Amino acid sequence: MSLQMVDLRAQIEATRPEIDAALAAVLDRGAFVRGPFVAAFEEELAAYVTGLGAEHEVHALGVANGTDALQIALMALGVGVGDEVICPAFTFVATAEAAALLGATPVFADIDPDTFNLDPAGVEAAITERTKAVVPVHLFGQCADMTALRTVCDAHGLPLVEDMAQAVGATWSGRPAGTLGALGTLSFYPSKNLGAFGDGGAILTTDAALADRVRQIANHGAAKKYHHTAVGVNSRLDAMQAAILSVHLRHLPVWTDARRAAASLYDEAFAEVDEVVRPVRRDEARHVFHQYTLRVPAGARDAIAADLRARGVPTMIYYPEPLHVMEPYRADVHLPETDRACAEVLSLPMHPHLSPADVTRVADAVRASLASVLPAVAA
Ligand SMILES: Cc1ncc(COP(=O)(O)O)c(C=O)c1O
Repeated sequence: MSLQMVDLRAQIEATRPEIDAALAAVLDRGAFVRGPFVAAFEEELAAYVTGLGAEHEVHALGVANGTDALQIALMALGVGVGDEVICPAFTFVATAEAAALLGATPVFADIDPDTFNLDPAGVEAAITERTKAVVPVHLFGQCADMTALRTVCDAHGLPLVEDMAQAVGATWSGRPAGTLGALGTLSFYPSKNLGAFGDGGAILTTDAALADRVRQIANHGAAKKYHHTAVGVNSRLDAMQAAILSVHLRHLPVWTDARRAAASLYDEAFAEVDEVVRPVRRDEARHVFHQYTLRVPAGARDAIAADLRARGVPTMIYYPEPLHVMEPYRADVHLPETDRACAEVLSLPMHPHLSPADVTRVADAVRASLASVLPAVAA
């Protein structure tokens, strides 16, 4: 079998009878928007996250996608025109886009070079009187340093929104992502650790009042049917996706263990390879390895990726360009660790169906590529 970054075919093969039954149940019931399948998935997701060690009851709301989840979370916190929202520039655009859509300005802080996650000292330095919220991204499946971020944010009375699009199942100091700030936002894009077969997203919170608020905002600002007390949006998780997600959620603990096991095998395989930097796991973090991302020498990165492609090993660069240099988000800020990460990162195939033989094949190919590319680049 050819190697894939993400192997949805293998996932479907493993779950096909359950998926077929789940979809048939939706068709038989004829409830396609809201309704019992969405409610059931919301409850199951909340129970799953609670079971990871939440201190308080978790509320979960399904929405249309992870970008909407971020926007609705920020709306629930009152973010609007003229406000500033601090976030990383080393992330998918949606993190900053959600703030910009509300007329707020995304303000970029640099990242911790070990984890690629928002640097709490950088956040503190970026706070102004206009700062309304801070959005750390739990990038690649590892939580940002929520202890330090909470200390900074609590001192300034600022809420944290966890962009946990890549980190369902992750924990920090024994507490699950999505319960470490005011709100957590999830994406169920098919390639995510918990993916739908289309778009989907969710918002998590342990604050019952905020849960009511996000529910209202996501439903056109309706306090009750045809009575709208706030400007909202139309953002719904549909029943087909919810039914699929209920199936996938049952497999998520095993799939997460498989990702973590593959990551450990990669770690072993690269232990003696001085030319690469392996992902750093923080002691407080349970990393769920949405990506397994190496650092390689910047000047050789693209040649290594091309060489690996020729050897049948796909790779991806998450992310080649930081947000603060992109036209809609251009900012006159100095983010050296963000720039360096963009030049050095190389993500390897990572999914729950990766076999130990696949990991060995990828690692052997990486070693061979380094041996063939680095001397040529140095010459
Ligand atoms: C970090 C991050 N934030 C937000 C999103 C947006 O999610 P979606 O594509 O479901 O809108 C993604 C997913 O691509 C992401 O990786």
